[in-house]
Amino acid sequence: MSLRLPDSGADTDAEGRRHAPSAVRNAGPILALLQQVLPPEGRMLELASGTGQHARAFSDGLPGWHWQPSDLNPENLTSIRAWSAGQDRIAPPLVLDAGRPGWHRDMGRFDAALVVNLLHLISDTQAAAVLAGLAAVAPRLVIYGPFLREGQTTSPGDAAFHASLRAQDPAIGYKDLGWVADQLRSHGHDLQWHEMPANNLALVTFMI
Ligand SMILES: C[S@@+](CC[C@H](N)C(=O)[O-])C[C@H]1O[C@@H](n2cnc3c(N)ncnc32)[C@H](O)[C@@H]1O
Repeated sequence: MSLRLPDSGADTDAEGRRHAPSAVRNAGPILALLQQVLPPEGRMLELASGTGQHARAFSDGLPGWHWQPSDLNPENLTSIRAWSAGQDRIAPPLVLDAGRPGWHRDMGRFDAALVVNLLHLISDTQAAAVLAGLAAVAPRLVIYGPFLREGQTTSPGDAAFHASLRAQDPAIGYKDLGWVADQLRSHGHDLQWHEMPANNLALVTFMI
């Protein structure tokens, strides 16, 4: 199902790179957090890479890291490849449905894994599979997006966005921070959360 999302229009440039305004806006704060919480080097798995802007910005800003981008939608791979051009620490992107239970079994191990703005767009069942898979592939996770806190949205804009997602598909919408933390703990990860711009949170996990 194709969702109607605010601010999701992405222009494509002559090199085939899609430019999503939201990815431009949040790249700086997320990169600053990654630089703070990650060790100097490692291998990163990114789920739901979208345009590939983040893969490029984050691998440029983390010179000791090798990046594995991925996305459910094969059409996104063209833009991810275009953004990766000239950066040899980004591996060719994979088609990966992270909402499919057991997806992690073929992936091997990474030093960290990242997902930005996915959990609110998928069902609880799919989100549980994302979190189980992430917890299995890496000891350190960074999970960014909007969340409910104690079951509530935290601003009128978030309430409207959550309601618009639910109206499009009653199975999707913001996930509760407590639910996400419980899922991760059941897979051996504890977390700290960081307040980010526009009421978003970045959840940073570490193995218990
Ligand atoms: C809102 S975009 C976010 C893209 C990128 N992370 C960013 O922040 O710019 C959501 C992305 O999730 C991808 N996606 C949706 N369902 C997915 C799934 N089950 N597994 C992996 N990716 C998925 C979509 O194809 C899309 O690229």
